[in-house]
Amino acid sequence: MRRSFALVRVPQHVAIIMDGNGRWAQRRGLPRAAGHRAGLSAVRMSIERCMTLGIGVLTIFAFSTENWRRPQAEVGLLMGLFLEALDAEIDELAAQGVCIRFVGARGHLAPALVTRMSEAEVRTQANSRLTLVIAMAYGGRHDIVDAAKRLAIEVKAGTLHPELIDEARFNEQLALHGLPDPDLLIRTGGDHRISNFLLWNLAYTELWFSDRLWPEFSADDFATAVAAFGERQRRYGQTSAQVSDPSC
Ligand code: IPE
Ligand code: IPE
Ligand code: MG
Repeated sequence: MRRSFALVRVPQHVAIIMDGNGRWAQRRGLPRAAGHRAGLSAVRMSIERCMTLGIGVLTIFAFSTENWRRPQAEVGLLMGLFLEALDAEIDELAAQGVCIRFVGARGHLAPALVTRMSEAEVRTQANSRLTLVIAMAYGGRHDIVDAAKRLAIEVKAGTLHPELIDEARFNEQLALHGLPDPDLLIRTGGDHRISNFLLWNLAYTELWFSDRLWPEFSADDFATAVAAFGERQRRYGQTSAQVSDPSC
């Protein structure tokens, strides 16, 4: 007997605030760095899930502009881990057809890391199976200010009339330019906040908060979040009746 499956709406773009590494480690009597390392398997799982489900873009928050305020030792360990993880994963990601893009302010990052980031971007730029955006030293407010600054420079140079600045034009100057806004934001770790992630791009994103700590976020948890997204009605300001029947 053939079973028929209802078509489940899958997000095109998933963004994740990967939170809870430190608490995961502390609960086990381990140093916080052990939690960051353990979180890598949840990153691999999320990439794999996206490719399997046909999700085209995955944006992960790896390090925020505010994370620079952490103890120097933790920042140093994190930076070392990013470099190590990039070196360890790049061959496989490239072979799997993942296009890697980094967003964030690279100015304070170690030159060796910045070089590897650029190399990874160049090496994978022709890939199209999944776009993996890694937000590294990223802040949503900084992103918006940067965009405003670039437009102001164009206006000052006389190459852009202020009247021509609209949402689309502004969007083009932001870090995620060329990509659709996230459809679904997942935040693990139990806190219900955005923590200066993609402030502009999350305007109409469906939010999913999980109490799980990032290293223990599983494929089942990911599936639960995606399934919940499929149940949401996205209204964009319209009424429920309008969305169910566009002829309303
Ligand atoms: C998220 O885990 C990773 C980064 C912010 C780099 P945390 O390190 O914030 O873990 P908690 O929130 O302290 O448990
Ligand atoms: C958000 O986590 C940033 C990343 C996951 C990279 P934080 O742990 O830094 O967030 P807050 O400070 O608790 O809001
Ligand atoms: Mg945290």
